[in-house]
Amino acid sequence: MAAPLLNLMPALQDSYYVTYPGPWAGHIPFAYWVVNALKPSTIVELGTFRGNSYFNFCHAVQNFGLNTKTYAVDTWEGDEHGGFYGGHIFREVDAYNSNHFPDFSTLIRSTFDEALDGFADGSIDLLHIDGFHTYEAVKNDFEKWRPKLSDRGVVILHDTSVIKNNFGVWRFFEDLKHQYPCFWFTHSNGLGVVLVGKNIPEEVLALNALQADNSLWMQAFSAFSRLGRLCENEADAQGRIDADFSHLRQFRVIL
Ligand SMILES: C[S@@+](CC[C@H](N)C(=O)[O-])C[C@H]1O[C@@H](n2cnc3c(N)ncnc32)[C@H](O)[C@@H]1O
Repeated sequence: MAAPLLNLMPALQDSYYVTYPGPWAGHIPFAYWVVNALKPSTIVELGTFRGNSYFNFCHAVQNFGLNTKTYAVDTWEGDEHGGFYGGHIFREVDAYNSNHFPDFSTLIRSTFDEALDGFADGSIDLLHIDGFHTYEAVKNDFEKWRPKLSDRGVVILHDTSVIKNNFGVWRFFEDLKHQYPCFWFTHSNGLGVVLVGKNIPEEVLALNALQADNSLWMQAFSAFSRLGRLCENEADAQGRIDADFSHLRQFRVIL
């Protein structure tokens, strides 16, 4: 059987939005690819923090000229896994959002549960879940938002490779593998992709189908992970620069 034709070029962009901390940055090229392949009408993200994932979904919408509405839901307060943080993070994210995506992107500052009523059943084509990472929390997020997905609906779960510190996304993803077609990347804390809808677009099905041939799948997998590593390195470098600057700022105050 001939290998399905796959266009990986959308993953390759002249520039990416990269900030730190780094783990999600390794999936940024895939974010462009999946937005182009799905051409979603609506994208919802649960858990945005500084925007490594969300702003790349938004840039993808813009770069590919799509007519997509995007929504980022977060309290912008943090949680016990990633730590709690101050209001300056929301202000930075809000400013970037208003400057770059005033026409199609909305930030919803609330809990995920509180945001549910704002979305009609069957209305979301791409849902990214990246909030609190215990088994119970991610199961709750998936089950409550599942009815909101359209028949083209795809769910992405971050941190499927993390097995320490009471993270349970890996375990919930094991449950999902018995219920839906899924594929996943192990790099950058892992990203699980769940094909929930009955009418998933061809290109996404074609990538999923590559799993039947280990060598083809490994080629696609390594294309995404190698490109992703470049983004992750950039995120780590930004983290080091920021740490150096805050050290210097402290030094000036002492002087
Ligand atoms: C791991 S961070 C998201 C990282 C982000 N996707 C990225 O690319 O860097 C998790 C975020 O989820 C938010 N969060 C966790 N549980 C939440 C809940 N139940 N409702 C709203 N926000 C929540 C936290 O405030 C935090 O900003």
